[in-house]
Amino acid sequence: MATAGSLATVVSEQPVTSVGLFDLTRQRDRLGVRIEARIDDVLKHGQFILGPEVEELERNLAQFAGARHAIGVSSGRDALTMAMMALGVGPGDAVFVPGFTFSASAASIAPLGAEPVFVDVDANTFNMDPSSLETAIAAVEAEGRLNPKVVMPVDLYGLPADYATISGIAARHGMRVLADAAQSFGGQVGNKHVGTLAPITATSFYPTKPLGAYGDGGAIFTEDDELAEAVKMIRTHGRQGDGDEALRIGMTGRLDTIQAAVLLVKLEAFGEELVRRRQVAAAYTEQLSGSFATPRIPDLFESAWALYTIRVADRDRVREKLARAGVGTGLFYRVALHRHPAFAQWAPEGLELPVTERLVQEVLSLPIHGDIEDREIAFVAEQLREAAG
Ligand SMILES: Cc1ncc(COP(=O)(O)O)c(C=O)c1O
Repeated sequence: MATAGSLATVVSEQPVTSVGLFDLTRQRDRLGVRIEARIDDVLKHGQFILGPEVEELERNLAQFAGARHAIGVSSGRDALTMAMMALGVGPGDAVFVPGFTFSASAASIAPLGAEPVFVDVDANTFNMDPSSLETAIAAVEAEGRLNPKVVMPVDLYGLPADYATISGIAARHGMRVLADAAQSFGGQVGNKHVGTLAPITATSFYPTKPLGAYGDGGAIFTEDDELAEAVKMIRTHGRQGDGDEALRIGMTGRLDTIQAAVLLVKLEAFGEELVRRRQVAAAYTEQLSGSFATPRIPDLFESAWALYTIRVADRDRVREKLARAGVGTGLFYRVALHRHPAFAQWAPEGLELPVTERLVQEVLSLPIHGDIEDREIAFVAEQLREAAG
């Protein structure tokens, strides 16, 4: 049954026999007509690059987050790279990044000639561990080869990182903080929204993110007028406005107008979907917390619940059983960043990230989205107990 005030309605009276990790079809059933109308407007006016929908979306995103600037860009990964270009990151610079995150966090650094430095995560929040960050900074300073330039905390699964502590550490070492909020748009700490927790923030509108487009997209948030101006130039070949000259090195980094049209409609429904995601997470925690290690959310923090991730011993066997029982799950992530072949060159010999190494063996993400029904949550919980039993 649907919970009062929630989005989820009983789609069918048939017994639940399978639940997918993500399901965008129900959202499309809810919003499709309005989305198609907005796409149609774009097809009619024909301004496919930086059309009026992009600016409208930027205003709405900034208002949602309470941020001074929101700038639509081509993807979450490009958002990270462009934010670092605006911060002046280049060869010889060190960017501190958690070892437990999606590969794009580190991949955004290397093209600038800078180097990722891998930091361990906290065993409770799975986000960057400030004490491991201090150790990593001390090692870089002692070696003297790289210039500590940027700290890039990642808001894993939608939970904001500990920006208060990390910002203090960064400031003491003359570094800037860039939030990888690809998964956390919609999250909060107290009454501050993701987008305002760091001087510059990058998010993703990849289709399965809490606020997802129908293709690639992302945004950069900042309070800083100069950084905003730099990002706007960088996303459009380093040019200013309609100017012909490249004033700095840029990219083809804009959010396209059709994706902005899709996101305008989805953003209107986003607040309600976030409420439902929180209800889903609370229901899982209530049904699973006696038997499994469920997510821990620190006081005052609100996750955007991009993913609901538990820790399970013998994870791969449990996952296989769940798949046979019709429950889709995900492994985010089963390879630590420093173990990826592409990044091994930046893993110093003897690098130890013990929490990361343990989490990659144990994490299991369960189905979550704004349209999941209570009886589907109960089905997942029941199948999980059986699979682990
Ligand atoms: C933590 C993290 N960083 C960066 C990205 C990259 O975002 P995108 O896929 O939009 O390039 C993602 C998303 O997939 C992510 O989860």
